[in-house]
Order: sequence, then structure tokens, then C-alpha cells
Amino acid sequence: MAEAGSLADRVKQQADIVRVLGEYVRLRKNGQNFTGLCPFHSEKTPSFAVHPVKQIYHCFGCGAGGDVFKFVMEMDKCDFMEAVRTVADKCGIALPKSRELSPEERREQQQRTALVELHREAAAFFARQLESTPEGKAARGYLADRGLDAEAIARFELGYAPSGGDALLRHLKTKYPEKLVELAGLASRDANGRPYDRFRRRIIFPISNESGKVVAFGGRALGDDLPKYLNSPETPIYVKSSVLYHLDRAKESIRAADAAILVEGYMDAIAVARAGISNVVASCGTSLTETQVKLLSRFTRRIIVNYDPDTAGQAATERSLAILLEHNCDVRVLALPGGKDPDTFIRSEGAAAYRKLLEGAPAYLDYLIGRARQFGLANAEQKLRAMNFLMPFVRRIPNALLRSEWASRMAQQLRVDEPVLREALRRAAAERRSEIKTQPALAGRGATPAERRLVQMLLEGNDFRERLGEEIRAHQLHLGLETEKILGVLLESCAAGAPPDATIVAPKLEEYDRRLLFEIAFESAAEASWEEAESCLEVLRRRKSEEELAAVQRQIEACAGSRSGEDAEELRALQARKLELRRRLASMSQ
Ligand code: UTP
Ligand code: MN
Repeated sequence: MAEAGSLADRVKQQADIVRVLGEYVRLRKNGQNFTGLCPFHSEKTPSFAVHPVKQIYHCFGCGAGGDVFKFVMEMDKCDFMEAVRTVADKCGIALPKSRELSPEERREQQQRTALVELHREAAAFFARQLESTPEGKAARGYLADRGLDAEAIARFELGYAPSGGDALLRHLKTKYPEKLVELAGLASRDANGRPYDRFRRRIIFPISNESGKVVAFGGRALGDDLPKYLNSPETPIYVKSSVLYHLDRAKESIRAADAAILVEGYMDAIAVARAGISNVVASCGTSLTETQVKLLSRFTRRIIVNYDPDTAGQAATERSLAILLEHNCDVRVLALPGGKDPDTFIRSEGAAAYRKLLEGAPAYLDYLIGRARQFGLANAEQKLRAMNFLMPFVRRIPNALLRSEWASRMAQQLRVDEPVLREALRRAAAERRSEIKTQPALAGRGATPAERRLVQMLLEGNDFRERLGEEIRAHQLHLGLETEKILGVLLESCAAGAPPDATIVAPKLEEYDRRLLFEIAFESAAEASWEEAESCLEVLRRRKSEEELAAVQRQIEACAGSRSGEDAEELRALQARKLELRRRLASMSQ
């Protein structure tokens, strides 16, 4: 939490939440707030809002909300201090460097820095091997056969790992401890405990992270050695699932084109980029992960999936589609003819032919319908199989109209009776609705306008905030309200002299109340005055008196049946109280 006066607090004061979040989410000005599509759940219409004055965000759909640090922590999956550093970095706020790090963190950071340096050194070594050794010459021959000339080698910083066994190790040992080379995954040990190079007799593809630092390598066997590709293991600087090959070089053009082409392999990405289409990234063998999709969708949500058209590629396409759709991507699928992957296709048919197919790539559902037809449509059973294959994808379309259009199209293409299909779709949609329903709808909750307004005033930096808090507290006006707990923590925070900040009190609330608090914080309102506060307090006082009156009335009725003298005494007292409450209420309504 950003303690007042702490480093985090200072960063928060200076940071512009709209600018930081704007790097992850497309935000549009909407009244006094900014809105966009929520990055934490799937949606087609924006319910994600950012409040530039209160410096908070809130999703009215899924309830995610908090301050700029919370957002970065969730998006980047990092801890608090890292989020503070990220925000400071993005906003150009200078941080007193290592002083803020724990010794443990500092060690880790130094290790990461050393690993990055070591990778840079290794990449240079591999490049030299390819360029100027006899063995490298043979490797260049292999690359030439595959259409990669000196210009391509230089552009993608390709290299070669010699067959010697410990050439890289010997080179690196002059500068780095052997342990670091092992930690980098560049050396392994044989049965006798002797270290040797992980990559031998392979073409080397340096893999960079988003900011262009080499963090790993992919190595292609020259002949039919297995495995065909050997990759770096995960290390402190390389988390496979969160790196996309070529993203560092592609991100500008992805933004500019507002589209990205997603391919499987290193060779594919290189071939497409060389064909003049630089907005291409490769997922590199593994099927696309959620982290990769989040990373990519910071730059665009329009994705053209162009995996290999083999069985494995088709399966990977379908898995990737599911993840992409969940993240609201607008997905098209390009399946190249003749069983070719992008690299082989471009080599044999040329860049222009590729570009043409790319432009005509069908929307994902058309692609899927095509796939479903391959099951055959000869009888009812086959048609059912085709429908069952498609239904999970159709279900992910949040927009009912669009879903309906697709239904007609599916019916036509699969030659299924439209009513039959629509019935299946309705069932699927109902399932979808029930999934969504698990989130409580807050809008219908019973917080009255007066209490909502009071919560807002306690969240604002007005000059009567403390007086207001004191007044509510003295008469316990918040008890029994929908916002009782929220007002409770706000009163405490007010009395403790804490600044008005929803994110300070949020951790003290249960999820339900936290969401309500953020909802209220986003309700637009004009500047508050003490007169307005007074009139809200009056509503609360009246309510309190009315409730007491009802309670007194109930007690009177309970007493009235009894004949004991004691009860008669009490009855008189109750009636006196009733009269007083009546008078008070009457004076209020004036
Ligand atoms: P492919 O087998 O399609 O390779 O695997 P490719 O790109 O067509 O390669 P070439 O043209 O035969 O050289 C696609 C990607 O899957 C990963 C690699 O990232 C590869 O680029 N892969 C593949 C591995 O990691 N290991 C393997 O053994 C094979
Ligand atoms: Mn391939």
C-alpha cells in the first residue's frame, strides 16, 4: 500500500493513471472519466473506467478495481515494489535506485543484469562463428539453401553454435563465472560432471524480450538431428510463456497497422518480416498462452493466426482461438494451401501471393465452419458432430445480434434446419448467461442516493470532510445502511487524518463492499457543499427516527396486552418517546 509520504505515495502523486493504463488499454474520454474494454475479463462494450481525479480504475462488469499499482501488479503479474518501479519508469519519475531494494532483491537484480550481459556476449560469439569460421561457412551454406542471405543473417542476428563441445563455455569463462553460464542454460554437465555447451552444431536464433534484450536462444539442427529445434530452458530472465519471438522488432508496426500476424516458428516470422510484413510474431512451438495474448493485446486486438496447416497446427490454431476470443480479440485465420507453412509458402509462391491471401483471410468462424464441414455432412450424426464442434466457439460471441447472424450462416453452410440450430444456440447462450450471472449485480443494491453522496463527500478533499465524519459518527447514522461498512471504514480513516483515497480503505472491506465503494466513487457529481451534506445527513436522521419509531410502536403493542403495573410504567415511557419521535419527524419534513 502507498503509505502517506512513502516512496510509493510520491510516485502515485506524480503518476498519471490515465497515461499508465492507456499503455495497456485503449481509453477514450467519456465525461469526466475515461473508459475502455476491461483487460481483466472478456467484453465487447466498455465497462472499464478510469477516474483521472481520484486516480482509480473500476470495472463495472467484473468488479476489478484499485489504484495504478494494483493495476500494474495484476497486468504484469508482479509484486508491489516492482509495480511502483514500473509506474515510475513509465512516467519518467526518478527513483532513488537500489536503496529501496532489499538485499535479496538487489542480488536478484544484479543476477538478471549479469544474465542479460552474458546473453549479449553469447549472441555475439554465435554471430562470429557463423560469419568467420570454416564450420560457420557450412552453416551459411545451409541458410543460403533456405533462402537466407548475409543481409537476412545480419538483420535477425543469426548465429552458429560450433560442434566442438565447449567452445562457448571456454569463451564465456574468461568473463563470467561458470555457474552463471549454467544458470543461463547455456551449459550442461555430462555424466562425469564435466560442463559442456548446450547448443552444438546448430543455427542460432536469438530470442529477445519485449524491450529488445536477448534472453534466450533457439537452435536449429543442421540436418536431421533431433530435436529439430533446441531452445534455452527457463531462466530468471526467460519465462517462455511470456515471450513472443520478434515482438521487440514488430511492436511499432503492429501498433501502426493495428494488426498482428501470429505464426508458429522462427523461420516463419523471419520469412514474413522479410516479405515486407513486419507486424509478425511467433509463439514458437508452444501453443499460445494467456500471458502472450495479454502482451500482444497491448498493441492490437486484431490478430491473424497463420499456423502450419498440419494437424498439430490446426489443433494449436483452435486452442489459440479460444484464448484470443476470451481476450476480445478480433481474430482471422489464414490456412495456407498445399500444406505449406508461411516460410515455405513465401519461398515458393512469393511475397505478393502471401500478402493477397493474408488480406483475404477469413474471420475465425468462417474458418471454423470450413473445418466443421470436413467432418462430413452426409447424415444427421455428422451434422451433429459439426455443430458440437462449433458451439463452444459461437458461445464466446458476446453480442447477440452477431451470434444470430452466425447462426444463420452456420445453418446454411452445414445444411442444418435453422430452428434446430437456433435451439442449440439458445441452450448454449443460456449456459453463457449463467456463467456471467455468478457475478453479483451491484446496481440493484439498496444504497440510497443520500448515503452514496455522503460516501462520495468523504472521498473528496473538501474542507468539511472531518466535520461530516464526526457528525455521522457521533449519532451513528450509518448503522443499518447498505453502506454501513463502507461508511464505517471511511469514518475511521477520516478520524485518523488519512487523505481521502478509496484505495486506502479498500483493503479493509470485503469484496462486495469494495466494489460498491468503487462504483460510488465513479458516480459523477458536482462539487459538494456543507448545505448538501446537511441535507443528506437529514435523510439519514429521518430514517433513523423512523426506524426507532417503528421499534417503539412494536414495543407498545407488546406491552399493551399486559396488565402488570410495571408494564404500565413502561408503556407510559414508550408513549412519551413515540410522541417525541413524531414531533421530531414532523419538524424534519418542514
Ligand atoms: P516447425 O516444426 O513447424 O518448424 O516448428 P519450422 O518453423 O517449420 O522450422 P523449419 O522450417 O523446419 O526449420 C515450429 C516451431 O516450433 C518450435 C520452434 O520454435 C519452431 O520454430 N519447435 C519445433 C521446437 O521448439 N522444437 C522442435 O523440435 C520443433
Ligand atoms: Mn513449420
